[in-house]
Amino acid sequence: MKLTIIGSGYVGLTTGACFAEVGHHVMCVDNNPAKIEKLLRGEIPIYEPGLEELVTNNVSAGRLKFTTSTEEGVEYGDVVFIAVPTPPQPDGSVDLRFIEKVAREIAAVMKSYKVIVDKSTVPVKTGEKVTETIKRYAPTMEFDVVSNPEFLREGCAVEDLMKPDRIVIGANSDRAMALMQKVYAPFVAPVLVTDINSAELIKHAANSFLALKISYINAVSAICEASGADVEKVAEGIGMDKRIGRHFLNAGIGYGGSCFPKDIAAFVAISDQLGVPFTLLKEVQKINKDQLQRFIKNIRDALWVLGDKKIAVWGLTFKNNTDDIRSSVAIDLIEALVAEGAHVTAYDPKGTENAKGLPLAGQIKFADSAMDCVDGAEALIIATEWPEFKQQDFAEVKRRMVAPIVFDGRNLLHPETMKELGFTYRGIGRAQV
Ligand code: UGA
Repeated sequence: MKLTIIGSGYVGLTTGACFAEVGHHVMCVDNNPAKIEKLLRGEIPIYEPGLEELVTNNVSAGRLKFTTSTEEGVEYGDVVFIAVPTPPQPDGSVDLRFIEKVAREIAAVMKSYKVIVDKSTVPVKTGEKVTETIKRYAPTMEFDVVSNPEFLREGCAVEDLMKPDRIVIGANSDRAMALMQKVYAPFVAPVLVTDINSAELIKHAANSFLALKISYINAVSAICEASGADVEKVAEGIGMDKRIGRHFLNAGIGYGGSCFPKDIAAFVAISDQLGVPFTLLKEVQKINKDQLQRFIKNIRDALWVLGDKKIAVWGLTFKNNTDDIRSSVAIDLIEALVAEGAHVTAYDPKGTENAKGLPLAGQIKFADSAMDCVDGAEALIIATEWPEFKQQDFAEVKRRMVAPIVFDGRNLLHPETMKELGFTYRGIGRAQV
């Protein structure tokens, strides 16, 4: 099939590349000429495992094209996916101006029947607005609007797209649904067919549920710390119940990233607008905030004064396997340490370049390796769950530190091993050793 993706960011570019990989002919559109020029030169603007190879192979095979022209893109595809940003507004609701703009642009250049698919994460009832908008600007044109939310995780986006748990297609027309089934025919995954509103809601409800699971275990971790229980054992014990499952029960310093904080706020905002406030989610947000504060308090309790302390922080990204530092709890943590006068040296396997662009960058040092980071440190904090942090030579880490104290905000390390190596070790939801 001929497909068009408008918006070549994380979601758009990865989706486009995966569609091309299964044999579709794809044109990716972006209004940023510099980004398109880069892509045409074979440079990938983001770090996502496996993506570069996929893009290069499919460009060479002639199945993946790039353009800055919406007109060319809309002309090209039978199905046009919208994958533009939906940023948050100060009150938590979603700024839908880019979706609205693309809807108008599509209406202005559409010359034949098109299926217009919303892939961006949007609040329920956005599809209705997109339909209204296109009708207003192209009253004589035939088209259908579809909601097809994406469930990819950064860091394993290619895998998630090639082998999805499920594909959700929300459409109110058989003609559009038939085309969408054809788009997804090459993917081996269960397809859930719904109306547009339900599909939009599934996305927000899924992300909120995952965030709720994280806040649940984080709230349990506070009780574990107060009572002397071990949250890792508790998570294992409850996770063995198939109805609960072990996934997303990793206690830590809280969830971050460009999706969860924004989507939970958006779900809260739309539920308020609809007159059915989702108060449970407000508690999820509160627990997430409190979790970092509790962690910082534990550090303060152990070190007494943070001012003038040399602190090494491993991790800048919001999770492992990405260079993304947006809404990263690791960054919030470093900001709080710096505000108390600590001298922070940070290391991250992929996130350093992005972090160097932050205002905070002038107030901290960046190390080139995990080991260099701990040189002369009076404490080490693990803020992101990168597997490479587990594989360090901790005897050498101890030798390089002034005082061997580790605060593990992601429970990456084994307390007993750390104790045997002579560290004072404090994880989340487990006793200090
Ligand atoms: C999330 C969802 O997992 C995807 O299904 C969804 O498609 C995506 O948002 C989106 O809306 O586009 P992502 O933001 O890439 O994906 O990150 P996750 O892997 O879900 O992690 C989110 C945060 O939760 C990270 O900060 C991570 O460190 C934290 N986390 C995750 C925990 O603290 N504990 C856990 O057990 C799991």
